[in-house]
Amino acid sequence: MGEIIHKSARKNTVENQILVIFGTNGDLAKRKLLPAIFQLYLDNLLPERFAVIGAGSQEKTEEVNREDVQNSMLEFAKTGAHENPKKLQSFIEHIYYQKVNNQSENDFGTLKNYIDQLSIKLDIPKNIIYYFSIPPFLYEVVAAHLIKFGLNTEADGWKRIIVEKPFGYSFDTAVELDKKLRNGFNEEQIYRIDHYLGKETVQNIMVTRFSNGFFEPIWNRKYVDRVEITASEKIGVGNRGGYYDTSGALRDMIQNHLLQVLAVVAMEPPAIFDSESIRNESVKVLQALRPIKQTEIIENVVRGQYIETLVEDQIQKGYRQEKDVSPNSKTETFVAMRVFIDNWRWSEIPFYIRTGKQLPERVTEVVIHLKPAPHQLFKQRCVAQSTNMIILRISPDAGVAVDFGMKIPGAGYKVQNVNMAFHYSDLASNKISEAYERLLLDCMIGDSTLYARADAVKASWKFVDPILQTWKTNSDIPLYFYECNTWGPKEANALFGNKELKWRAPFNKFKNE
Ligand code: BG6
Repeated sequence: MGEIIHKSARKNTVENQILVIFGTNGDLAKRKLLPAIFQLYLDNLLPERFAVIGAGSQEKTEEVNREDVQNSMLEFAKTGAHENPKKLQSFIEHIYYQKVNNQSENDFGTLKNYIDQLSIKLDIPKNIIYYFSIPPFLYEVVAAHLIKFGLNTEADGWKRIIVEKPFGYSFDTAVELDKKLRNGFNEEQIYRIDHYLGKETVQNIMVTRFSNGFFEPIWNRKYVDRVEITASEKIGVGNRGGYYDTSGALRDMIQNHLLQVLAVVAMEPPAIFDSESIRNESVKVLQALRPIKQTEIIENVVRGQYIETLVEDQIQKGYRQEKDVSPNSKTETFVAMRVFIDNWRWSEIPFYIRTGKQLPERVTEVVIHLKPAPHQLFKQRCVAQSTNMIILRISPDAGVAVDFGMKIPGAGYKVQNVNMAFHYSDLASNKISEAYERLLLDCMIGDSTLYARADAVKASWKFVDPILQTWKTNSDIPLYFYECNTWGPKEANALFGNKELKWRAPFNKFKNE
């Protein structure tokens, strides 16, 4: 795909810098970004001199903004805000505010002056991250305004932009957006955030695979029967109906998060562990996804939508009754699909991917189902069906479990499936960082390993685009309705093409299953 491959700019030190958050008054900034920065501060990971400039459309004073940020910390920061008011106070002193209407070119001139003055006053070089925590249609507008005022130039310090998902709405729009950003920023300056890649447990998939001698030899078509990737959520779309109804589960979860997870599970070991080598390998997986032809969509992709359901004497709204959702909406809140990776390692091994809202558990996990032993010596003596699985649990109860058959003590040779599980929580001394903490810190350092590269984003759009197109144009393709608190439409099981197989129903704690 012709991307220019640069060496990673990782420096391992966090230089003094400024972070500008566009959309600072929005939900993401309040709930995730500012608490993540506060946590980095508590962990002493921020540089000696740093400033966070909130850029928002509201007119407010620095004092009022600091109060707002303080309140967000008290509400959303996991630790530290209530227990350590002094630290909170000293953190708040690093927070600044500038009113910016993103559509107004002039406001960016004012922002530039504000940055210039602050940089002199605080003696911080103009190393700047611009975080686009704004509606996607504004990404190119804000980028253009930054470019117009030279806020992208690196003569006086590095400049990076962090772009939230969705990166485009389709293949064409993603290419177009990339082009617009590249008018003033090169690939090394663009950080496309996918918070799944920031999850400690997603990174651990690489460590599990590549730091142990015994997983990798069986991690291929010879020993693996199939792979299941599930991201299920208990909640519905809540207040996000307006956004979600133009997106749907395929765009919201699969095009980015789950295909990135699949790439980490399926990629070849890189020769060296650096940003470009890892991303070079993971993009190859996305480029090797077998396109699903229009005529094959029904048998490979199942879409569903939740309907009004009585759950424990409570009415759960159907998707079409949610706020800001069209009453005739055909947007999918559930997708299950079978995909193949056409390469040497995975030829003809199906990967099953599933995501949905209003399902019984909130679980994200990868399950590697191994092929049965070649000769079933104990077939008649199995109490449960003897299956071998490696479960990589991303959340909750993060960890790794292996399921295998064991002899039940006593006479004879009765075999039962047991489960050997490692729980991350057992590493009690190490707290698991929030994805945004890790990703923000990486960007501050200049390490883009866990950010999606342009070619990867394009490759995954290339794969999902035809499905979206076919759904849009072919009304014969069913949208199955499912009740809340169920595992989605039963038709999802038909993807296995084998009546004996069905999706695993994960519990949110590992147990023998
Ligand atoms: C977001 C999606 O990117 O990821 C949401 O837009 C989804 O719809 C969320 O709920 C899930 O993230 P997590 O980290 O809670 O699994």
